[in-house]
Amino acid sequence: MKSLLIANWKMNPLTLHEAQKLLESTVKASNAAREVSVIIAPPALYLIPLRAGYRGKKVAFGVQNAHFENTGSFTGEISMEEARNAGASHAIIGHAERRAMGESNEDTRKKVAAALSLNIVPILCVGEKARGYEGEHLIFIKEQLRAGFSDVAPGKVARVIVAYEPIWAIGAEEAMNPRDMHEMAIFIRKTLVELCSEKAMGVRILYGGSIDEGNAVAMIRQGDVAGLLVGRASARKEKITQLIRAIKEV
Ligand code: 13P
Repeated sequence: MKSLLIANWKMNPLTLHEAQKLLESTVKASNAAREVSVIIAPPALYLIPLRAGYRGKKVAFGVQNAHFENTGSFTGEISMEEARNAGASHAIIGHAERRAMGESNEDTRKKVAAALSLNIVPILCVGEKARGYEGEHLIFIKEQLRAGFSDVAPGKVARVIVAYEPIWAIGAEEAMNPRDMHEMAIFIRKTLVELCSEKAMGVRILYGGSIDEGNAVAMIRQGDVAGLLVGRASARKEKITQLIRAIKEV
């Protein structure tokens, strides 16, 4: 089965040289894994040099965040258009760590629309902080999905990737149980079909949160996901190599 691996390097590594080495290892492993599509989201500073040094076609690049406005007085931000001009084909939107810094559902709505208008694939992250007994988290996820997809034209719905990342499993010791992910994938699919019609059947749903070479295969096999959004394990050469090797024949 074809799977998608998104490497969210977050604020790693510390130098361009190390980033180049990490890219090299990731590319090498990806080249040996025909069924795995890899997208690397490095710190934005490294995007241009990494893109320029990469000659292949197998790996694509993305940004971890971008502003919805195209240009202007937004100190410290980069725009979707700048990201695209620097070689990004994908953009992570609404990551839990960005939401914790103040990004709202309204922001994600605008960012998804901005990305699509430039032909950038939005990777919309959703996920609850904690789970209650009464399924409150489902209402929370539904609201995040509703906002993220509000301005998406029917013809573009299937271009959006949804990454479910429960906050309690990000940077944690253990990933979510794949059976629980399976249930969540059904809920996300059902919600998207309600919101966006049958076109939502084409949306790829990913899981993220404490994935490594040890649990990736089970998550893909039993979690009903099209791929994984990986943080820590994607920023270490040995870990990412082992992870890509593990999922290459799932
Ligand atoms: P970890 O894989 O480090 O838990 O991070 C998950 C994540 O936030 C990916 O976007």
